[in-house]
Amino acid sequence: MARSSCFCMSINLLFLYLWSHPIGAHNLSRSVKPLCLENEISALLQFKERYDIANVSSGPLARPKTLSWNKGRDCCSWDGIECDENTGHVIILNLRSSFLYGSIDNNNTLFQLAHLEKLDLSDNHFNYSQIPSRIGDLLRLTYLNVSYSVFSGRVPSEIFKLTRLVYLDLCCNLDPYTSTRSLPASIGKLPSLSYLDISGCQFSGSLPSSIGHLPSLSHLIISGCNFSGSIPASFANLSNLEYLAVSTSPFTAQTISSLSWIWKIKKLASSYLEKINLYGEIPPSIRNLSQLVQLSFLGNQLSGTIPPSIGNLSQLVELIFLGNQLSGTIPSQLGNLTRLTRLCLRIYQLSGSIPSSLMSMTRLVMLDLAVNKFHGEIPSSISQLQNLRSLLLVKNNFSGTVELDNFLKLKQLLVLQLSFNKLSCRTSSTNVNLPQLCALGLASCNLSKFPAFLQNQESMNWLDLSDNSIRGEVPFWVWNGNFNRMQYLNLSHNFFTGLDQYYPMNPLYMYTIDLSHNMLQGPPPEAPPSIMFYLVSNNRLTGALPPWICNLSLAIALDLSSNDLTGVLPVCLGNISESLMILSLKGNNFRGNILSYCDNQLQGNLPRSLANCKMLEFINFANNLIVDSFPSWLGSLPELRVLILRSNKFHYVIERPQSNQTFLKLQILDLSINAFAVIYKGLKLYYPKISKALIVIDLSSNLFEGEILGAIGDLKGLRGLNLSNNLLTGHIPPSLGNLKALESLDLSLNKLSGQIPQKLTELGFLSFLNMSYNNLTGFVPKGKQFDTFSNDSFEGNLGLYSRDKSRQPSTHQEERLGSPIELDWEIVLLGYGSGLVIGVVNGNAFISWKHDWFEGNAKRMRQPRQPRRGFFFIQGSHH
Ligand SMILES: *[C@@H]1O[C@H](CO)[C@@H](O)[C@H](O)[C@H]1NC(C)=O
Ligand SMILES: *[C@@H]1O[C@H](CO)[C@@H](O)[C@H](O)[C@H]1NC(C)=O
Ligand SMILES: *[C@@H]1O[C@H](CO)[C@@H](O)[C@H](O)[C@H]1NC(C)=O
Ligand SMILES: *[C@@H]1O[C@H](CO)[C@@H](O)[C@H](O)[C@H]1NC(C)=O
Ligand SMILES: *[C@@H]1O[C@H](CO)[C@@H](O)[C@H](O)[C@H]1NC(C)=O
Ligand SMILES: *[C@@H]1O[C@H](CO)[C@@H](O)[C@H](O)[C@H]1NC(C)=O
Ligand SMILES: *[C@@H]1O[C@H](CO)[C@@H](O)[C@H](O)[C@H]1NC(C)=O
Ligand SMILES: *[C@@H]1O[C@H](CO)[C@@H](O)[C@H](O)[C@H]1NC(C)=O
Ligand SMILES: *[C@@H]1O[C@H](CO)[C@@H](O)[C@H](O)[C@H]1NC(C)=O
Ligand SMILES: *[C@@H]1O[C@H](CO)[C@@H](O)[C@H](O)[C@H]1NC(C)=O
Repeated sequence: MARSSCFCMSINLLFLYLWSHPIGAHNLSRSVKPLCLENEISALLQFKERYDIANVSSGPLARPKTLSWNKGRDCCSWDGIECDENTGHVIILNLRSSFLYGSIDNNNTLFQLAHLEKLDLSDNHFNYSQIPSRIGDLLRLTYLNVSYSVFSGRVPSEIFKLTRLVYLDLCCNLDPYTSTRSLPASIGKLPSLSYLDISGCQFSGSLPSSIGHLPSLSHLIISGCNFSGSIPASFANLSNLEYLAVSTSPFTAQTISSLSWIWKIKKLASSYLEKINLYGEIPPSIRNLSQLVQLSFLGNQLSGTIPPSIGNLSQLVELIFLGNQLSGTIPSQLGNLTRLTRLCLRIYQLSGSIPSSLMSMTRLVMLDLAVNKFHGEIPSSISQLQNLRSLLLVKNNFSGTVELDNFLKLKQLLVLQLSFNKLSCRTSSTNVNLPQLCALGLASCNLSKFPAFLQNQESMNWLDLSDNSIRGEVPFWVWNGNFNRMQYLNLSHNFFTGLDQYYPMNPLYMYTIDLSHNMLQGPPPEAPPSIMFYLVSNNRLTGALPPWICNLSLAIALDLSSNDLTGVLPVCLGNISESLMILSLKGNNFRGNILSYCDNQLQGNLPRSLANCKMLEFINFANNLIVDSFPSWLGSLPELRVLILRSNKFHYVIERPQSNQTFLKLQILDLSINAFAVIYKGLKLYYPKISKALIVIDLSSNLFEGEILGAIGDLKGLRGLNLSNNLLTGHIPPSLGNLKALESLDLSLNKLSGQIPQKLTELGFLSFLNMSYNNLTGFVPKGKQFDTFSNDSFEGNLGLYSRDKSRQPSTHQEERLGSPIELDWEIVLLGYGSGLVIGVVNGNAFISWKHDWFEGNAKRMRQPRQPRRGFFFIQGSHH
């Protein structure tokens, strides 16, 4: 997944804090040169021979150190080696990031270096070896680093014989072959241990309480493990702790006050307690940690308000509450934290306005108040925060007019996110001295002009100007070089009429282009081959589907729906991309060229190669002129959930498919308004496995003849069934009453005869029913849901009598009549900070389906454009 290195930077910062504490930085350039011993030379050279040099290291100083080792020279001067000044014994072996690839076992000559005090094997590839038990022979070790080195299996208990160990770093040896490892309690027998990192090592079981008996421990890093239970009470004894990071373990939920011992550790400078199921209110006693520099509760369930006493933590540099459930306002005392560089309060529930006291945090580099309920104006004094690089105010209720020039005074600014507030953004600047932004979000910002200052921006890789009122052409400088690092460009929901001198953006990086909901004319703008999301729906694009569309081998979503495109669907369409999940071409004028696929076959309108797109979940070809028979061959798509062929010229029979394993996940099938004909046999007959998932069938306005088979009552999940406007005859099968989930049933405009089965009154969720214009007879059944339907549902049946003649027809019902299934979708990637999250077409699509079907066209049209939610949002709409 392409990601913006720029706006991920801040997240990575946090990560860096975790992995690169300076305590590990030894002075390796010391160059003492006693003569080294013959047997140690030999051991080292054998070690060198044992390993391939391969591209397995990535650290900043990565180099193949062993390549420079050769017999002729004193081994004490070899890269990565240091010897004892007096004895000449090798005491330091630093092979960090040395491109070593191969396994290691107990025979390894490394273990002959009995005087080693420091051994760093990190950032190599030991091919899933177990850490050899002979490591326990190296009794003088004070430093052992085997992190990032592809070790697997259990941690040998012999490690715990190394009683002089001060640093032990086992981090990050993810192991696909061992599902669980436990951390031996004997870890508590390392009396000198000061630094312990057991992150990302798949340890499970409980966290040994013996860790609490390591008297010298100053750095304890336990993240990405699978520990259950709770944090042992013995940790209260870790009075020398300076750096504590416990994160991402499925601990039993515990209140934050149960960890009150933490507030008593006098030396603690960094406390990261992230994603470990903490809940409850932050106790005021947190003020006791006045020496605290870094504090993060990211990803817990803390509630209540931010205690004003946090303002006492005057040394704080970093404060992160992201993803909790805190509410209330920002206490003004927070302004006392004048050393803060990162403040992240993205919490969802905070309200009030930005306290002016925050403007005294002049060292702030990142201010993240996104996704809350803050209101009022954004104080103009924010321009005092001259060190700001990221300012994230997206998705609040901020209002008023915002002079962008004011933000542009922030010389360090890289990321500015103001989208989805109630702001009016203004800008006049074209000044070349503005900061070079890398991400800018001004969606829903009342812009009427393309901000001119963008013309001088050259580092921009993420730009969202959607949902404004910008008119005219997208200026040429957007395409012509300026934005050649662009990855994400969203200009949707404006009034753009064209793309001045368009040519595709940099083909290396661009992954999203969203020009949908504008007034663009001409052919679809060419997308670079790197594109994943190409969204140009709801414009006035004309011409044929361009040939480059078939080169989009990374595409996940292609939406060209609701334009005026014409011509033949290219045969190559199905070769586009294995990752394609969404293809929407509805609302155009595509035609099938009958001869385009095979010279002598009367088919080929839907390219058969579509069956290669194994990830397709959503196909919508509605409202075109496609001539074809039912694409039973699409049934082989394993993920297909939505198939909409509404309003085309599909014809012929729905044939028996070649395999029974078809349409296994299909949930919405809309074949309405076509010319499907010949005997209607009930989908159940030909598609026996379809039934589990199907929730909507719309076969309306076709030429189906024959009877509705009783087997339809087996489609138990069905919520919508529309067979209206066909040539169906015979009786309504009572088994329809088995469709307990049915919410909408339309059998109107057929030639159905006989009585309405009493059993249909058992459909407890039925809220829409239309049986009008058939040849039904007898009385309309009474009871339950049936009492809520008006006469309109039954009119046009000459022999049908209502028992209650006084009931008035309801216009409300009328409004619903003929309201089709129209699925559309929209993607909004608010990718700031967290990179990209891609959802799948799933539940949300069905919620919108329901909305469309039941709420009706008219109401829908009157609705204001909905605010867009989430990272990936699918929205139904009519056009
Ligand atoms: C261990 O090595 C990794 C890099 O390979 C480094 O990031 C880490 O800080 C080292 N650990 C210690 C305790 O020095
Ligand atoms: C490391 O050692 C070298 C040579 O002894 C010395 O010049 C340098 O200043 C030392 N660096 C640190 C960070 O101590
Ligand atoms: C080494 O591997 C990295 C990713 O693992 C890759 O990006 C890089 O191009 C490789 N370098 C060489 C020289 O193969
Ligand atoms: C790594 O392990 C695999 C599987 O055991 C083996 O096939 C391969 O030869 C090993 N590679 C090296 C360089 O030892
Ligand atoms: C390691 O030693 C064992 C016997 O101790 C021997 O069987 C094995 O072949 C040796 N392995 C290597 C790679 O030398
Ligand atoms: C986590 O630990 C539990 C047992 O505590 C185990 O069932 C589960 O498989 C482990 N998960 C992983 C991803 O190792
Ligand atoms: C803390 O250490 C003392 C002395 O070793 C011991 O008595 C006490 O039980 C320990 N406390 C906890 C909670 O482990
Ligand atoms: C903290 O902030 C409050 C309100 O802003 C102020 O009254 C108080 O003097 C500050 N305390 C310190 C120690 O700066
Ligand atoms: C498909 O299902 C039908 C009806 O259940 C059955 O008669 C037929 O043998 C099945 N075909 C295959 C290939 O399994
Ligand atoms: C209506 O049904 C009756 C029998 O119930 C049948 O005689 C008549 O022909 C039908 N009318 C139409 C138009 O199908």
